[in-house]
Amino acid sequence: MQELPLYVVVLGFLVIWHKSGSLPPGPRRLPIIGNVFQMPQTSPWLTFTKWAKTYGDIMHVDVVGKHMVVLNSAKVARELLDKRSLTYSDRPHFVMVGDLAGFSELLVFQSYGEEWRKQRKLIAQEFTQASAPRYYSLQESQARILAWNILRDPSSLFSQVRLRIGINIIQVTYGYTVKGAEDPFITGPLQSMQNFSEGTVPGSFLVDFIPALKYVPNWMPGAGFFQKAKAWRQVLWDASWAPYLWLKENQNQAISMPNLCASVISDAGGELSREEETRLVWAASTVMGGGLDSNMSTVLSFFLAMALYPEIQSKAQAEVDAVVGFERLPEINDKTSLPYVRSIVTEVMRWRPAMPLGIPHAANEDGLYNGLYIPKGSVMMANVWNMLHDPKIYSNPSDFNPDRYKNLDSEMQKVFDVLFGFGRRACPGFHFAEGTIFAIVLTLLATCDILPPTNEEARATLNNLPYTGVGIISFPENFEVRLKPRSSRASLLADVIESLDC
Ligand code: HEM
Repeated sequence: MQELPLYVVVLGFLVIWHKSGSLPPGPRRLPIIGNVFQMPQTSPWLTFTKWAKTYGDIMHVDVVGKHMVVLNSAKVARELLDKRSLTYSDRPHFVMVGDLAGFSELLVFQSYGEEWRKQRKLIAQEFTQASAPRYYSLQESQARILAWNILRDPSSLFSQVRLRIGINIIQVTYGYTVKGAEDPFITGPLQSMQNFSEGTVPGSFLVDFIPALKYVPNWMPGAGFFQKAKAWRQVLWDASWAPYLWLKENQNQAISMPNLCASVISDAGGELSREEETRLVWAASTVMGGGLDSNMSTVLSFFLAMALYPEIQSKAQAEVDAVVGFERLPEINDKTSLPYVRSIVTEVMRWRPAMPLGIPHAANEDGLYNGLYIPKGSVMMANVWNMLHDPKIYSNPSDFNPDRYKNLDSEMQKVFDVLFGFGRRACPGFHFAEGTIFAIVLTLLATCDILPPTNEEARATLNNLPYTGVGIISFPENFEVRLKPRSSRASLLADVIESLDC
């Protein structure tokens, strides 16, 4: 028999050895079920952050044979997800929400490939940095209506934030003006997001662990998940197609404001093939999902921070007063002259990241990193929470402290680079999100004092306010603030509101 060259033998050994023994470190696993019993049901980023102290920057957990690789430092996340993006740009496969409920059609859950590329291109070309200013007037108007409405009724904080952010995102996606909180074009996507969150709670659906179950007849005992998946698919389908069909029938109304769907149709000369239309519908539906909850969570955390840190609020208000004066309301363009306000927005995103584990990537081939073996199919999770709460990088990370950036954009950028994701999958909505958030933050700082509630009990809850820990987005639980009008700009606000049709 012909002898094998030595390097082939050595490589062969290495592959076998890496496959068997050199996964990244992690908690001890049991045969077959792995770390199932150690996996937290809520806020997994907090448990992962605790484990990171023992296992370091990259660790491994096994959930019934499914490999999960948790990246605890920005350096490692960048080396893998950015620099090796050809290997780590896929998404994990969800059987319940993906295959059965239909969420795998959405760009955000598409496998890394041609369809993903085409959907992503539609969105990326609409929401570039250069095109962001065309949405400023909408974002500023909605911010002013928001401030006005919560000044009059602070208990409407959550519903108003949801509605105003919803109006922005639906308008720029379909050109449709939402009629109110109960408009199905806004309740549909919100319901769909909630279904998705429910469907991705680890361990809630056996079919995700035993995919063959998706082939059992739906009359079998225990196959109730089929009914649920069918209902979820319908909600997703309606939320995605109904606003698009509205746009097709109301093109004249829909082009009054630039929007994604109208731009794509117009670029194609007014007619899309069925395939192009389907692609656009799922891309647009991803924008809705991407832009709603993440922005809402961030804006609510801003209110919380201001109520808890009045001296920081006063410092930001002094900056706004000095730059904007008292004759007008602030505009998004003012942000370039307001480094302290920029630091506040950054600090909100660091202090309470809306997506503490980002959105998981997946490995599409076997890989080695510093001698550690990362198997094909591994779910790659960026532990954004740990990256933004590492005391070696952010001293006293639980404190809300915008001064830590020393007004330097280069320092602030480090937070955005982590929060908005990695490599080819990084969020394409950053510039639009920035506009929405700055419009709200600036308008609120200029026109209102955000104060904690007078009621002692409600005030005490603010200090340790729980955040929801299931699903991809983390939200503050219900809380109250008081708002007091400040400066002559509050009366400017009243004048502007009168002139707006709302
Ligand atoms: C504070 C607001 C936001 C945050 C924190 C945020 C964060 C993220 C993160 C972490 C990802 C996953 C990145 C990765 O896989 O590495 C993502 C993806 C995405 N985001 Fe955002 N996002 C925000 C707002 C928006 C907005 C306003 C839009 C739409 C205009 C948007 C559209 C998308 C889309 C389409 C994707 C999927 C990208 C892909 O899979 O290729 N996001 N976002």
